[in-house]
Amino acid sequence: LLLATGARPRILPVPGAELGGVHYLRVIEDTLAIRERVPDGGTVLIVGGGWIGLEAAAGLRKLGAEVVVVEAAPQLCGRVLTPELGQWMLELHRSHGVDVRLETGVESFQGGGGLERAVLGDGRVIDASLAIVGIGVVPNAELAEAAGLDVDNGIVVDEFARTSDPDIFAAGDVANHFNPRLSRPVRLESWENAQNQPIAAAKAMLDKGEPYADVPWFWSDQYDVNIQLTGLPRDWDATATRGDPAA
Ligand code: NAI
Repeated sequence: LLLATGARPRILPVPGAELGGVHYLRVIEDTLAIRERVPDGGTVLIVGGGWIGLEAAAGLRKLGAEVVVVEAAPQLCGRVLTPELGQWMLELHRSHGVDVRLETGVESFQGGGGLERAVLGDGRVIDASLAIVGIGVVPNAELAEAAGLDVDNGIVVDEFARTSDPDIFAAGDVANHFNPRLSRPVRLESWENAQNQPIAAAKAMLDKGEPYADVPWFWSDQYDVNIQLTGLPRDWDATATRGDPAA
């Protein structure tokens, strides 16, 4: 048995979150629904300055919308970027006219029929008929938990994608796998891992397994910039910059 139950968007639990115009982005239907609602010249509010929020911000700027991003943390993409790269992303988005506000969030969404405005943590009000919430994902590990498998930030698996039951495997966003190259458990949320870890799992299920030890790799296109990340920085001794970051 292979569990590949994926992850789902984390829900923002604030008043008014059920109003029409408040969207999450996980599947193609979400993207199409968002595109239908992009206001001509109006403002789109994005909650969360992670990968969903920033890719959406770049896309919406291209469509001509005004974009406000509110991020709870003191830097953008803090889950995977060092502070220097977070600052670089901030400058990239501000230079494209995005109004980025750090260390704040949404207190409530308001409106009659649909979304009309949002009240931020600092009391300021943003008039917007469309909001996109990208505040992370939650692994769909409930089935594994009910089955008595080890679950800790996703379904715990070894380097062969095997769960605490040797006849049950798990892979993808839901699997917290032991990565022998990094010598620690990692749960990755990227299509590259969602593609390659199941291949490793399938081989292990056929008794042809090799340890899955890929180096995490992500990329993102924003404006005219292609951003690539290799590895998963957690702590470091020194930072080296080569070339001109602005270029
Ligand atoms: P994320 O984890 O990348 O970013 C979530 C952001 O929301 C964080 O910066 C966090 O500090 C912030 N946040 C959390 N709660 C908040 C709140 N209440 N108010 C304001 N900000 C809040 O998750 P995201 O962007 O939702 O993406 C979902 C998943 O999809 C992630 O795993 C991401 O890596 C993946 N993804 C990957 C892409 C790529 O590889 N190019 C592109 C898009 C998404």
